[in-house]
Amino acid sequence: MPKSTKPAETETADGNNIEMATLTRPRTGESWKLPVTKGTVGPDTVDIRTLFRDSGMFTYDPGLTSTASCQSAITFIDGQQGILRYRGYPIEQLAEQSDYMDVCYLLLYGELPNKDERAEFIDTITHHTLLHDQLSTFYKGFMRNAHPMAIMVGVVGALSAFYHDSTDISDPEQRSLAAHRLIAKMPTIAAYAFKYSLGLPFPIPRNQDSYPENLVRMMFSKPTDDYTMNPVIARAIDRFLILHADHEQNASTSTVRLAGSSGANPFACVASGIASLWGPAHGGANEAVLNMLDEIGSKDQIPKYLNKARDKSDPFRLMGFGHRVYKNFDPRATIMRQSTHEVLNELGIDDPRMELAMELERIALEDDYFIEKKLYPNVDYYSGIILTTIGLPSNMFTAMFAIGRTVGWVSHWKEMLTDEDQRIGRPRQLYIGEVERQYVALEKRVHSSEKKGWARLWGKS
Ligand code: CMC
Repeated sequence: MPKSTKPAETETADGNNIEMATLTRPRTGESWKLPVTKGTVGPDTVDIRTLFRDSGMFTYDPGLTSTASCQSAITFIDGQQGILRYRGYPIEQLAEQSDYMDVCYLLLYGELPNKDERAEFIDTITHHTLLHDQLSTFYKGFMRNAHPMAIMVGVVGALSAFYHDSTDISDPEQRSLAAHRLIAKMPTIAAYAFKYSLGLPFPIPRNQDSYPENLVRMMFSKPTDDYTMNPVIARAIDRFLILHADHEQNASTSTVRLAGSSGANPFACVASGIASLWGPAHGGANEAVLNMLDEIGSKDQIPKYLNKARDKSDPFRLMGFGHRVYKNFDPRATIMRQSTHEVLNELGIDDPRMELAMELERIALEDDYFIEKKLYPNVDYYSGIILTTIGLPSNMFTAMFAIGRTVGWVSHWKEMLTDEDQRIGRPRQLYIGEVERQYVALEKRVHSSEKKGWARLWGKS
């Protein structure tokens, strides 16, 4: 359980043993002293909790680019150095030597499991993979061509109506049960969404399979045929899940924390995380990368698309490039590129999109615009090629991301609920609307469309 944030015990020049930062407002001559808090590694923070009370001012930070919204002991990222660690362990070591079940346990409980703990954890997850039969009727309310992420948001939210014995968030046992259920059921939920879109029967999870094998089998097997597992594919999927398992306070994890801070149902909180993940700037980028490669089509089109990406008036962005935190390289992308090569070699597939992706990466990395803005391939750049190679359509990619990230969401949700500093998340704002004005009777109103045009209402003119 994280301890309450304490200011650093630092001997300072003024004899105070708490390091303080000073905020001065020259216009009024006022200044406020704010404690500096230190983590175990990474940037210090200025604790501004008393700032509004003492100064009457808020801080302004759209996109929270400089704001630590919580304290956390789960994942550490150093964006300049390209470092990612889960509970202190480098992602490279985990991707190479560990497996997803180990990583789930590590993220949830803080340590790698010993043999007995691992066996018990796998047994628990394995025995929660089935969905309540009633949920199959829920799927049937969706159009067959519904986006799988739309189905995931709906079905995971609907779990809150099914599992009433794991929703008392003050009970640690129930919190664990909800976490285990979510990790266990996500592959089944995603596989149902895939099969539903194909008009095929819902698959049944198999307890003798490992977590990634079960996921692969449910996605690709048919009840009419035997299915032979390819261990290279199962391993690639396991690694995919490890690389996506957590990424500290990203948009979807922050969404889960914010939803959970009000005491909301855990399944509903994770559904909110899935909704946030869906966007193309976040987890939806893997689908967008494949669509982009298809649109670019051939190497000779690369210059044209790089021009579009550089052009501020063009909404086109190079999908799978850039990251809020990584400004050197994304260590997940390096592992994903290697994994993609392994899968393509194993399956003997010569996907022209891989060659196109590598050439696009090469040219972009030498391009002044991308160098200046520190834009590098991120985890989503190559992951779509692996997923498409094993037979998933691009609209399933973000659902696969959601499966991997579920353990991160529930780990943060659990951590938040046991954090002594936890309060309902309630950001402030800089109000820029009308000041107080008097009510206008209906007959005296000038219609806003006559006044300024409809587009004005949507901020477009
Ligand atoms: N292509 C072209 N220009 C870009 C790109 C890109 N992919 N990404 C950023 N820029 C430019 C952007 O226009 C801006 O330019 P300027 O300074 O002139 O205004 C500058 O680089 C900084 O970009 P930003 O949008 O302010 O940076 P951000 O930290 O708010 O956004 C990002 C990060 C990942 C949303 C953004 O880089 C992006 O949209 N990338 C493409 C989508 C993508 O691949 N997302 C997956 C992220 S990794 C998986 C995950 O964890 O979700």
